[in-house]
Amino acid sequence: MSLSRREFVGVLAASMTAASCSFLPRLSAEQSPGTDYDYILTAEPTPIQLVSAGLTPAWCFGGSYPAPVLRARQGQKLRVLFRNRLPEATTIHWHGIRIDIAMDGVPYLTQPPIEPGAEFLYEFTPPDAGTFWYHPHMNSVEQLGKGLVGILIVDEAKPVAFDLDLPLALKTWHINEDGSFSPFSFPRNAARMGTPGSWETVNGQNKPVLEIPAGGLVRLRFANVDNTVIYKLAVKNHPAWVIAVDGNPVEKPYPLTSHEMGAGMRLDVALIAPQKAGEVIQVQNGKGKLFFDFVTLKTVGEPVRGERTIPVLPLNPIPQPDLASAESLDFVFEWEGAVTPANDHGEAHQMFWTINRRGWDHSSEQSIPEPLAKLQLGRSYIFNLRNVTPHTHPIHMHGYTWTVLESSQRKITPYHTDTVLVRRNEKVKVAFVADNPGRWMYHCHVIEHMKTGLMGYISVA
Ligand code: C2O
Ligand code: CU
Ligand code: CU
Repeated sequence: MSLSRREFVGVLAASMTAASCSFLPRLSAEQSPGTDYDYILTAEPTPIQLVSAGLTPAWCFGGSYPAPVLRARQGQKLRVLFRNRLPEATTIHWHGIRIDIAMDGVPYLTQPPIEPGAEFLYEFTPPDAGTFWYHPHMNSVEQLGKGLVGILIVDEAKPVAFDLDLPLALKTWHINEDGSFSPFSFPRNAARMGTPGSWETVNGQNKPVLEIPAGGLVRLRFANVDNTVIYKLAVKNHPAWVIAVDGNPVEKPYPLTSHEMGAGMRLDVALIAPQKAGEVIQVQNGKGKLFFDFVTLKTVGEPVRGERTIPVLPLNPIPQPDLASAESLDFVFEWEGAVTPANDHGEAHQMFWTINRRGWDHSSEQSIPEPLAKLQLGRSYIFNLRNVTPHTHPIHMHGYTWTVLESSQRKITPYHTDTVLVRRNEKVKVAFVADNPGRWMYHCHVIEHMKTGLMGYISVA
């Protein structure tokens, strides 16, 4: 495990539950002269204790799970020196960041795979503030399934004060009772909603009890870092407000009733904790029509001094698409059951899903197809996303933030996101300005779906 001083400070900051202002400045004060990166991030096999009956042979960032929460400041450069100590090649993708293509972390398309023992310096300046995350983009069913997922927080350029800022990584592990891994994927599930894990965790703990400062203003940053599961979050017995969705502040905070988050999606919730110590707030997760306790928040300490109000976060500078001149493109997500013939080793490769009748699994350099669409740099586009399958798909595009305009099934107040849940038979209309050149991945974030066809890329030039 290799922790630079700044990284260590970052870990401490993320796990701090003091009632004092936890909105820490970016860690630049800690930067020792002569280092040219902010974090050293290592990926390596690490046994971890998720269940008491035994260890899980996880693959971890920074030698533990949850992974270190990386913090950057909006508009300031972040440098992460990544070291691969895994037995196989990998890359790191920065989900939701409007990033330079060279730093997007997609093997073959944007960079060569980082081989075992090798390192790679990721450096970028995040234009938007919010809750983002990072994960490999190679052998994803296994690499993410084994634990290589972490939260990236980009602090607002002008700090917004909270008494507690709490990142919450949601992952349902594929493990047996003794902690060993169970299969990450079964073909019959990959062809349906994906293979769900069995051990539900928040920051690596099942149904954790977390302390919050009595009377304090609390920011909960939920990140669905799971391969498969849709979480449906609600707060049972206390008012809570949605302040940002998928990394992007909403124009006006609104009460959280329940919010569905597909794989890859995030939700920032603000609440003002009860004044008395020992009070309990119950965060719940819905399955079907029923809700189950998920995270317990418990007030501690003397009540914080002074009035607290729910803040309105400054909006991110997402370019506004010109809808009048925008070109519309249709994307149809379809189910297409097929099994290719077994190869020399007797392995058959299944493809179940297509985008506009094409499937791709992005497993080798040789297999890069034509882009799904070629966009003109600087022009506005409308994507019509049509899900004609019987399952829900969180559709994600790299390098861009969409404005969601309309759905055939729900009333939409336009909002910004990098990942949109498209339900069965639903049509969703999103728009954006194609201002970032490159070849941008475009896929479903149910990892089994993307690895069995529901993946492509868009080129912008
Ligand atoms: Cu989290 Cu290709 O994405
Ligand atoms: Cu992404
Ligand atoms: Cu999908």
